[in-house]
Amino acid sequence: MIQQAEMVFMTQTERETVELGRKLGEVCVPGLVLALAGNLGAGKTRLTQGLAAGLGIDGDEVTSPTFGLVHEYSGRLMVYHFDTYRLPNDQSFLDLGAEEMFAAGGVCVIEWASKVAACLPANRIEIEIEAAGETTRRISLRAFGHREVEVLRAAYPGQPEVE
Ligand SMILES: Nc1ncnc2c1ncn2[C@@H]1O[C@H](COP(=O)(O)OP(=O)(O)OP(=O)(O)O)[C@@H](O)[C@H]1O
Ligand SMILES: [Mg+2]
Repeated sequence: MIQQAEMVFMTQTERETVELGRKLGEVCVPGLVLALAGNLGAGKTRLTQGLAAGLGIDGDEVTSPTFGLVHEYSGRLMVYHFDTYRLPNDQSFLDLGAEEMFAAGGVCVIEWASKVAACLPANRIEIEIEAAGETTRRISLRAFGHREVEVLRAAYPGQPEVE
């Protein structure tokens, strides 16, 4: 059983990043955890807006939950959107109810996920966004877990995988 897969995309515009997120949102399954990494302004929230749109949520509802809050959006599945940038430690992430939300049957999206790596489930999709130019972004998606690999492949059929 395949447990891991990686795909890499280059987007040239904000719009393309939103579109990438939307395709993932369309095939999300209950309990999925998406761990987003990338610097300030990389595009984590843009991608999340697309993801939400793919789940039938108005992307305009989606903003960075900057001050240690978690945003909840209701679509085909619930979306729990975290931004851990300002959280002082793992405990403050857990205090937001992270573990309950991982188990709630929705989709959890965590911006700055590397800050709380120790709290994340092993089965997840890691999404790393790097600025490669003014509006060019390199977006790597790594799925860990059988179900996560299936979701990734369903979102981007025909996309080559990184060996
Ligand atoms: N290809 C692209 N994909 C995504 N965003 C892009 C792209 N090109 C330019 N941008 C711009 O980069 C910015 C991305 O902002 P966004 O809020 O999504 O970043 P973020 O990673 O969530 O940052 P933060 O860590 O501050 O929350 C926006 O201003 C957007 O217009
Ligand atoms: Mg953000």
